Amino acid sequence: MNSVAIYPGTFDPITNGHIDILLKASEVFDTVILAVAENSGKNSYFSIEERTKLCTIATKDIPRVQVKSFQGLVVDFAKTINASVMIRGLRAVSDFEYELQLALMNKKLCKDINTMFLVPDSKYLYLSSSLIKQITQLGGELDEFIPLCVKEALNNKHKILD
Ligand code: COA
Repeated sequence: MNSVAIYPGTFDPITNGHIDILLKASEVFDTVILAVAENSGKNSYFSIEERTKLCTIATKDIPRVQVKSFQGLVVDFAKTINASVMIRGLRAVSDFEYELQLALMNKKLCKDINTMFLVPDSKYLYLSSSLIKQITQLGGELDEFIPLCVKEALNNKHKILD
C-alpha cells in the first residue's frame, strides 16, 4: 500500500532545517505532503501563497514530495490526502512539551493519525524561521541555512518594506 505522510507547518519561511527533515521523511514514505498551514495561530510575514510557492521551489528536486496548503484542522486535511503519519521535527528538549501537546491533541481529534518525530542534522538544531527573518533583516548572511529562493524573497521583501 502507498504510505503517505504529512509534514505540516507554518513555513514562514521554509529553511534548510525543514528540508533536512523532509529528506529524511522521503526516505521512509512513498509520498510526503509538505502541508503549509494558512491558520497556525501566528501572524505570518509571508502570505500563504508566498510560503507555498517558496516551499514548492525549495523542494522541487526532492523525490516523492508534494507541496499543498490547507485551512482548518491539520487532521482533517491529513484525512483528505490519506495520510496516516504526521511528521514533526524535534530540535531540542524545549520543543518537546509543545510537540507532545500537538501530537496528543491531534491523536484525540483523529485516532488513526500518529505523529512521528525526526531529529534534524545537528547544524540545524538552533535554527528557526523567526531567527532567519530577524538576522537577514539586520543584514546578516545565513546562506547555509536557507534555500536561494528564500534568500531572494527575504531580500525583496525587506527592500519593499524598508
Ligand atoms: N529546522 C528548523 N526550524 C524548525 C524545524 C527544523 N527542522 N522544525 C521546526 N522549526 C521551527 C520553525 O521554523 C518555527 O519557527 P518560528 O516559531 O520561529 O516560526 C518553529 O520551529 C515551529 O514551526 P512549525 O514546525 O512550522 O510549526 P508551527 O508551530 O508553526 O505549526 C502547525 C504548527 C501548523 C502544525 C499547527 O499550528 C497546526 O496544525 N495548525 C492547523 C490548525 C490545527 O489543526 N490546530 C490544532 C493542532 S492540535
